[in-house]
Amino acid sequence: MKLFEPANIGPCRLKNRLIRSATFEGMSDPEGYPLPEYRHLYQQLASGGVGGIITGFAYISPEGKAMQPGQAGIDREEMIESYLPVTEMVHQYDCKIFMQLAHTGRQTRKKETRQDVYGVSNQRSLYFGGSPRELTTEQVYALIKRFGEAAVYAKAAGFDGVQVHAAHGYLIHQFILPSINHRNDEFGIHDINGIGTKFLGLVLEEIRNKCGRDFALLIKVSGSDDYFTKFTMEQFASLIRFLDAQEVDGLEISYGTMDNALNIFRGDIPLKMILKHNPVFKTNSGIKDIPLLIKNVFIYGLMRAKLKSFTPTYNLEYVKIAKALTDIPIISVGGFRKGAEMRHCLENGFVDFVSLSRPFICEPDLVEKLVQDENYSARCVNCNICAVMCDSDRQTRCYKN
Ligand SMILES: Cc1cc2nc3c(=O)[nH]c(=O)nc-3n(C[C@H](O)[C@H](O)[C@H](O)COP(=O)(O)O)c2cc1C
Repeated sequence: MKLFEPANIGPCRLKNRLIRSATFEGMSDPEGYPLPEYRHLYQQLASGGVGGIITGFAYISPEGKAMQPGQAGIDREEMIESYLPVTEMVHQYDCKIFMQLAHTGRQTRKKETRQDVYGVSNQRSLYFGGSPRELTTEQVYALIKRFGEAAVYAKAAGFDGVQVHAAHGYLIHQFILPSINHRNDEFGIHDINGIGTKFLGLVLEEIRNKCGRDFALLIKVSGSDDYFTKFTMEQFASLIRFLDAQEVDGLEISYGTMDNALNIFRGDIPLKMILKHNPVFKTNSGIKDIPLLIKNVFIYGLMRAKLKSFTPTYNLEYVKIAKALTDIPIISVGGFRKGAEMRHCLENGFVDFVSLSRPFICEPDLVEKLVQDENYSARCVNCNICAVMCDSDRQTRCYKN
């Protein structure tokens, strides 16, 4: 059965077609060093039979750190050693592990990171607010170097490759999107394809040059930008053509930006938990904080108006476009729950790999269960409490099962 057949992502042979999609762990200390729970999590996943693991997003530079507490970092050479026990352990189970490299750009808050917030331009995010500063051209070149250095550290730490996070509205996605990239320098929107790919192209080139072809280079992109509908299907197709020419080893297709994070995940809206734990929504003075309440109602109203409902394998429309345009192995994420759905997509050639996030939070041994029963259905009910709780100081876990 194709689900359990080995296949390559660049230089890496994965023992099956199942991948754990990047999932924020909240299991690192304030300096970004992984705690023992981080290693334990990856031991559970690797021993549960998954072919490959993509770590939660790790910051490559301190001002690109997320507002969520406990994010892992890979921005200093000293960090290499702390990841070695993790990668060594994962490899004992014949499992590959890729580190996701990210810079938040405007999608973070000075209040939590104590760093100035920088974005592709000074346009603020609807959800994160703040006053992002536009990166200077020199700063953009410095960040390209930092992505390359982070990949070098990840390689030295035993990772099999990296995944460049170019989805969900983070910095690289901000460069791509015409609705956010208002730059007038060489990193602005390209006249011909209508998107901003120069930063991404140079990041990929830097990683390749520094890490070589024996180190897998993956990328995660979003199919749409949700709000302003300025990212058309044609522009998405241009992005795929661009990536095809970059010869990345694996392409994961996701959706949306953190401005409406619920459309990345889909499913329930745990409003009570959001109001209690989310730093953007929560009020310290309750009903008396009228301006914040008005802002909350406005943001929530916009989010609801654009809300997409959970359907199985919900990013497949973008996956099909990508598949027609490139031979790069395609990893599809979003809404895979049943063995039958995974088999259907793989056996019909819609996708090369299936990746999952929430189902692995509640069942790290999901692959073992699929081996026992090819029609197994994951227990995840998309309550999304795990996602909301990323904003608290608790480590990521399932709150239902
Ligand atoms: C708790 C949680 C943390 C996540 N962290 C990340 C992350 O660090 N990087 C990323 O690219 N996506 C992240 N995602 C998104 C997932 O990788 C995935 O794209 C999304 O959840 C849809 O897949 P699913 O239906 O299998 O959960 C996260 C999702 C959840 C629920």
